[in-house]
Amino acid sequence: MSSLPPVRIGLLGLGTVGASTLEVLRRNADAITRRAGRAIEVVAASARDIKKSRPVDLSGIELTSDPFKVVNNHHLDVVVELMGGTDPTRELVVTALKSGKHVVTANKALIALHGNEIFEVAHGSNAIVAFEAAVAGAIPVVKAIREGLAGNHIEWLAGIINGTCNYILTAMSDEGRDFAEVLAEAQALGYAEADPSFDVDGIDAAHKLTILAAIAFGIPLQFDRVYIEGISQISRVDVEYAKRLGYRIKHLGLANQRASGIELRVHPTLVPERQILANVNGVMNAIMVKGDAAGATLYYGAGAGGQATASAVIADLVDVVRALNSHPESRVPHLSFQPDALAELPIVDMHDVRTSYYLRLGVLDQVGVLADVTRILGDGGISIEAILQQEQAGGAQGVPVIILTHEVSERAMNEAIIEIEALSQITSKIVRIRMEPLA
Ligand code: NAP
Ligand code: HSE
Repeated sequence: MSSLPPVRIGLLGLGTVGASTLEVLRRNADAITRRAGRAIEVVAASARDIKKSRPVDLSGIELTSDPFKVVNNHHLDVVVELMGGTDPTRELVVTALKSGKHVVTANKALIALHGNEIFEVAHGSNAIVAFEAAVAGAIPVVKAIREGLAGNHIEWLAGIINGTCNYILTAMSDEGRDFAEVLAEAQALGYAEADPSFDVDGIDAAHKLTILAAIAFGIPLQFDRVYIEGISQISRVDVEYAKRLGYRIKHLGLANQRASGIELRVHPTLVPERQILANVNGVMNAIMVKGDAAGATLYYGAGAGGQATASAVIADLVDVVRALNSHPESRVPHLSFQPDALAELPIVDMHDVRTSYYLRLGVLDQVGVLADVTRILGDGGISIEAILQQEQAGGAQGVPVIILTHEVSERAMNEAIIEIEALSQITSKIVRIRMEPLA
């Protein structure tokens, strides 16, 4: 074993992930040291309230409520950022990098929104920014894409990349439970973001998709080009109809490399029940990556939670320690491709994206309505794969009619929906969920 002194860590944040990281570092210290070649010691940490009782022993750690004191501490080698948000974390990380410290972070918002700038600063300081924990909790998918699939042309990736959304959708589907109640449970378990609307509105998944697409396709981080829909419009009725038709509703992040550019989208999706992703439940995440040489590969594991995320944070720490004495040019590039080899590929406009659709219409039970609906779809070049009409008392709400379509552009579907909703016999806004065969 090396006789070098321990690597000194400053920890920003002692919440769900910060406290678990400390705990796992302590519990597995021996194995971690044997892997890294040097001991890893947390010597300083910050939190908003340093008097708060924490589920971990903080003795021997210099505590402060000012995170800038940690990043400006000249005795540290690595800063681990587990605070969340972009303000003041952007400034903290840039300050740490400029002073030559390496950074490990679980903060997907920070990397997705400010990663291009942060990696440039890191490059200028010969510092490493490691962010495995920012995507899909415990799953080493960043490493898999950047290193394991480095020989491939990546065609597409699709994943369940928000544990909170998957936890909610699974409980709605398997137990018929209500959205709000399950969200509160996910918050109590430490899965949700500080602001849970980031989870349920799809923003957190879009942050992660931005990162995955950059390392898969060698493009800069472009969060503002991701099409985003969350799960708050998904009702138990749609979950039930989807099941009856042989599908599961999953919240997916999808990045496809097409001839016209890259598609980047996050939305609820009907996935055929025989597909593996349809059977990924609870807080678990899974990402399928299709490479031209490897074919389809799948990465599965816990997508959120303190210890699961700590596992990825510590793996990054070990990587950083192993690389401390390596020449910067021989390190794995932050975004997988060399910084001067990133490509400005076009991002496909969402209107031009083609998928098949699940539509749920509320329709007055009158002769001729379905003929009008199918005529509008036909005029828009939209062919129907299946229609399911419920025989139930209609009333003012109308009866539900479910239509599955073949593949069509988003533009054509938007136009058809506007025309159908204008029919006097349509009683409510049409529910539209995109479908993906994932094959
Ligand atoms: P958390 O439980 O809310 O912890 C945040 C910590 O940062 C707390 O200790 C808080 O102090 C401290 N903090 C926040 N703002 C601060 C400020 N302005 N000054 C000083 N300290 C501040 O959050 P978390 O769930 O651990 O998440 C941390 C990061 O990991 C986020 O970027 C999140 O997206 C990411 N992440 C989380 C998970 C997960 O499952 N939870 C999984 C993957 C990635 P107090 O404790 O005193 O309030
Ligand atoms: N809030 C996130 C989720 C944490 O539920 O997936 C893990 O990134």
